[in-house]
Amino acid sequence: MTKIPLYLAPLAGYTDQAFRRLCKDWQADYLVSEMVSADGLIRNHSKTLSYVLFSDYERPYGVQIFGSDPYVMAKAAESLIPFQPDFLDINMGCPAKKVVKRGAGSALMKTPHKAADIVREVKKALAGTMRLSVKFRSGWDAQNQNYRDFGLMMQDAGADILCLHPRFQKQMFSGHSNWEHIRILKEVISIPLIGNGDVDSPEKAQKMLKETNCDAIMIGRGALGRPWLFKQIKEFFEKGSYSPITKAQILEVALKHLDYALMTKDEYVVVREMRSQLCNYIKSMPGSKDLRAKINHAQSADEIREMIRDFFLNCP
Ligand SMILES: Cc1cc2nc3c(=O)[nH]c(=O)nc-3n(C[C@H](O)[C@H](O)[C@H](O)COP(=O)(O)O)c2cc1C
Repeated sequence: MTKIPLYLAPLAGYTDQAFRRLCKDWQADYLVSEMVSADGLIRNHSKTLSYVLFSDYERPYGVQIFGSDPYVMAKAAESLIPFQPDFLDINMGCPAKKVVKRGAGSALMKTPHKAADIVREVKKALAGTMRLSVKFRSGWDAQNQNYRDFGLMMQDAGADILCLHPRFQKQMFSGHSNWEHIRILKEVISIPLIGNGDVDSPEKAQKMLKETNCDAIMIGRGALGRPWLFKQIKEFFEKGSYSPITKAQILEVALKHLDYALMTKDEYVVVREMRSQLCNYIKSMPGSKDLRAKINHAQSADEIREMIRDFFLNCP
């Protein structure tokens, strides 16, 4: 019987309070916010702060920040202390153009000394109030595969935990993540390492653990529309088998997701944001295309609720 902590990955546009809560219901151990702009935090934008908010139920919970200036990142970290999250995560892996062109996210892997300065300054600003983790990739591209030295530098600069998503910036989310990099990094660092990338089943979680010896597993896309994956992984690690999810359960979870969203956001916003979230629950089911089109035109939560109920009651 192996017990390994399971993290829900930060997923911008998806891992809001509602989805985090749902994943916690299904036994995710650690939750992380969507990425939050350090610039936005120090300007105290209410929209930015809305990404930080969480309930005690979500603990242990971390806020992830992104930015490129050590001073701004430290100030942003300091501004989070009153919220008392359990950890702060620094995003050094985001490949998106609008982030890397500002020298943030995975662009920091091209400037490792600046990245280390950020970790040192943020660590100082946090003054022991919470743990500090750093999430990064294998490097910018295959010619600049610096995850090993980069990880060691972040450890020396004061990171308490590292998380590796072993793809290059240039790959964005294509191809496969190279778990061998997780194994190699784990061998050389002395702080815990979270393995991330392409885990979408209990079998893959077990394979990642076996192949890399990582200390925790982080799951992103595999949990979208499938928050029960965390429970299934735990069952599999404990008993070697896991219960399949039933259609009735999927319907219940999808409706709960909608209800949770309405607890923290205005209906107008929820109706629009839930379009992509809810489609994940029905993705591979017959007739899902038609339902997706209908949900895209829905104007109220009640309408969506009815559409989903009808779909599940009538699906074979
Ligand atoms: C839609 C989407 C949004 C993401 N947002 C973030 C983010 O805000 N911060 C971050 O560090 N990584 C982000 N990622 C990357 C994931 O956290 C994760 O590293 C990646 O998807 C690989 O894990 P997976 O195969 O389990 O999804 C995002 C990925 C996707 C697909």
